[in-house]
Amino acid sequence: MRRFLYFAAMSLAINAHAQNQPSLKDAYKSCFVVGAALAPAQFTGQDVKETQLVEAQFNSATPENVLKWALIHPRPDTYEFSMADKYVEFGEQNHMFIIGHNLVWHSQTPRWVFEDDTGNPVSRDILLDRMHDHIMKVVGRYKGRIKGWDVVNEALNEDGTLRQSPWMKIIGDDYIEQAFRFAHETDPDAQLYYNDYSLENEAKRKGALELVRKLKAKGVAITGVGLQDHVSLDWPTADQIDKTIKEFGKLGVKVMITELDVDVLPSVTRSADVSLNVASDSRLNPYPNDLPEAVQQQLTNRYRELFRTYAKHCGLVTRVTFWGVTDKDSWKNDWPVKGRTNYPLLFDRNAQPKPAFDAVIQLAPK
Ligand code: G3I
Repeated sequence: MRRFLYFAAMSLAINAHAQNQPSLKDAYKSCFVVGAALAPAQFTGQDVKETQLVEAQFNSATPENVLKWALIHPRPDTYEFSMADKYVEFGEQNHMFIIGHNLVWHSQTPRWVFEDDTGNPVSRDILLDRMHDHIMKVVGRYKGRIKGWDVVNEALNEDGTLRQSPWMKIIGDDYIEQAFRFAHETDPDAQLYYNDYSLENEAKRKGALELVRKLKAKGVAITGVGLQDHVSLDWPTADQIDKTIKEFGKLGVKVMITELDVDVLPSVTRSADVSLNVASDSRLNPYPNDLPEAVQQQLTNRYRELFRTYAKHCGLVTRVTFWGVTDKDSWKNDWPVKGRTNYPLLFDRNAQPKPAFDAVIQLAPK
């Protein structure tokens, strides 16, 4: 009993603290919703401190992993919805704009999806059937509750051509429009997005613009483009981001910043290709205990510059989502080098706001 009272008191204290801070969602409510990618500990209440932080700060949520094909549909006849159900319930209880991530991707998709019983590639028709079945089941289950879907994720190479993924090789380049059609057919009211990284680089941006143009010309119901924005301290420039937002805006689609974080560690790559894995080296992990003041300042300046750029496009940019909640659980600690200590988000390892948080709040439109 005493133990229970202690935890209840702790929880109230943390809650009061989280609620006394200004919030990102209130600060930017006239401009865009502000979200975070959530792991199970943050939407099941297992991590009390982070769950309360999420509730206090964000009005949109994206599942970091639980809706990906490998987790939700690991075997042909098995759908495992329990974690995704909890994610959606959490989002509803907190009146969040709930995102589904993602439906069609080359990564975190089991091999069986592309193969027959003998391990050979399936035919175009079979793969289209599997895609259709998956989208109908997953989008259908959360129809009217998940409001926006990353329908196709990371379909482009850096030079703007279509990635030779199994989807592309087996179905052909119309796999993208087919995925959008299946999603729209299942939930006509859901917003549907194309989501990718490095779209600020000219060649890749051109490829994505061309893709969106073609989809729109064919009458495909694409609502928006997600710029992931896994950025570093100096790339991409504010001008590159500004230009990218404007160019997609000219095509009549909304723009969302879908996976924001700022890498402060020595650069290994500008890609966000999850298959990369670089050997560890202490020179690549220079701040294992704390972030030096000068770098903290650079991070603050960078976040100020990013939010100034996003807020310039209020209404066209409808959402800014961070890829994680605190530095402790960011994927950036393990990618592309495992076991580093990175500082990419607005909340530190104790869920406390960093100077960059204050800068972002101060910048918000009054
Ligand atoms: O589910 C297994 C679990 O059973 C096992 O015990 C554990 C042991 O390592 O691994 C678990 O899988 C991990 C999975 O996350 C779920 O936690 C994978 O190893 C790990 O590679 C995977 O990483 C995710 C990555 O996507 C891989 O696709 C990251 O958490 C997630 O942040 C990252 O997110 C992607 C976006 O979806 C798309 N854009 C890029 C972004 C960053 O890579």
